[in-house]
Amino acid sequence: MALWGGRFDGRIDPAFEAFNRSLPFDWQLWREDLAGSRAWARAQVRAGSLTAREGSRLVAALDRLERLLAKDDSMARDAADEDIHGFVEARLVDDVGALGKKLHAGRSRNDQVATDLRLWCKRRVVGLDVKLTRLMTALAELAAREAATAMPGYTHLQRAQIITVGHHALAYVEMLARDRSRLADATCRLDVCPLGSGALAGTFLGIDRRALARDLGFREPSKNSLDAVSDRDFVAELLFVASLSCAHLSRFCEDWIFFASQEAGFLELGDDVTTGSSLMPQKKNPDSLELVRGKGARVIGRLTGFLACLRALPLAYDKDLQEDKEALFEGLATWEACLEVTRLAVASARFDEDACREACGRGYLDATELADALVRRGVPFRDAHEQVGRLVRAAIELDVELSALDIDTLRRIAPAADETIRQDLDIARILKRRTALGAANPRLVQRQAQQWLRALSNKRA
Ligand code: ARG
Repeated sequence: MALWGGRFDGRIDPAFEAFNRSLPFDWQLWREDLAGSRAWARAQVRAGSLTAREGSRLVAALDRLERLLAKDDSMARDAADEDIHGFVEARLVDDVGALGKKLHAGRSRNDQVATDLRLWCKRRVVGLDVKLTRLMTALAELAAREAATAMPGYTHLQRAQIITVGHHALAYVEMLARDRSRLADATCRLDVCPLGSGALAGTFLGIDRRALARDLGFREPSKNSLDAVSDRDFVAELLFVASLSCAHLSRFCEDWIFFASQEAGFLELGDDVTTGSSLMPQKKNPDSLELVRGKGARVIGRLTGFLACLRALPLAYDKDLQEDKEALFEGLATWEACLEVTRLAVASARFDEDACREACGRGYLDATELADALVRRGVPFRDAHEQVGRLVRAAIELDVELSALDIDTLRRIAPAADETIRQDLDIARILKRRTALGAANPRLVQRQAQQWLRALSNKRA
């Protein structure tokens, strides 16, 4: 059944018909379309445009359809209708006859699809939040296990200062926590009910839109009908939340791909998230991390592609807006898969404590700490920096680490140095001395990891 036709003599070209149809992807909105339709039937009863009996017959028929679809949604997926709204209406008419044709009074597919999609988003974000939480938990567990495992920290990909594996993991927990808060924020803004806005000008029925919004579980009704049917900010926002989160995941993968390389050798990924080479028998490749890094590009593509579509549109509804769904569905599904695969990689990883520690002993990662030790002996920081720079040069020439310089060399370049200064370069001491909030100190990292684990398990409960 076509939803329109009275005005037309000719038939739609099959090529354009296929081009125009959205059922191949918007069938996923069936739950939401049924919920919106039930609420609209009830709103019409309250407005006096349907009798109570008509309303309850429509609601019962929509419930019946819901039970059928819950068992097997292929009947929606494979149907010939133009979109999910046409599908639901046609099945309703099949079921209750002429009464089914009364439901669409005062409603348009324009306010209907905007409502469906917002309802879908509200349901979808719950699962995404769970996936974010699980990944954060896996990282916090790793941080708790490896709170004290010393490893090199980098800037410019050059060895910089000693940190711990746990500290590195918690950096990503912070990023993912911001992703969660952005997701919650976007969800709050999209929690607005467009139904009752009609095609663009507002419904002709005397609908109580506040009651309708409440019935559908929305925070409030939309305030301007033109805006309501054309607003897809929420699609762009969710795609941005996904894109930025994928950027975080990609940076994480970039770090770990290096950590897993033989050049670093800090960690080994499990067999469950790695693959071999068809030619080189020795290879164990971090494909999981590489694909998470690669797939983030798609999500960003969905965001920029959809923004490019949106920016050109005059008010109010334009068919271009039908492009919102594939962008949103694919973008969020890709993000979700990336979160899940990253979690598997984190759960499978084993850090090599000796390799991490050994790497801390090469590359003068303790130079800043030596300057700090001189400062504690009264040397102004700028002078200490200069002296340690010269000590590093001397050490490079002798091909030794700073802690291996003899006391005479130390004293010649840094007169404040004493016999005990080399003990200050002990890794455990270096880490312990950092006591400021947020620093790479095993005790602080452990405490933060435990705080995260408590907070995350409360959220899940
Ligand atoms: N399939 C359409 C979409 O996804 C539904 C709205 C159609 N509205 C219209 N006036 N043609 O946007």
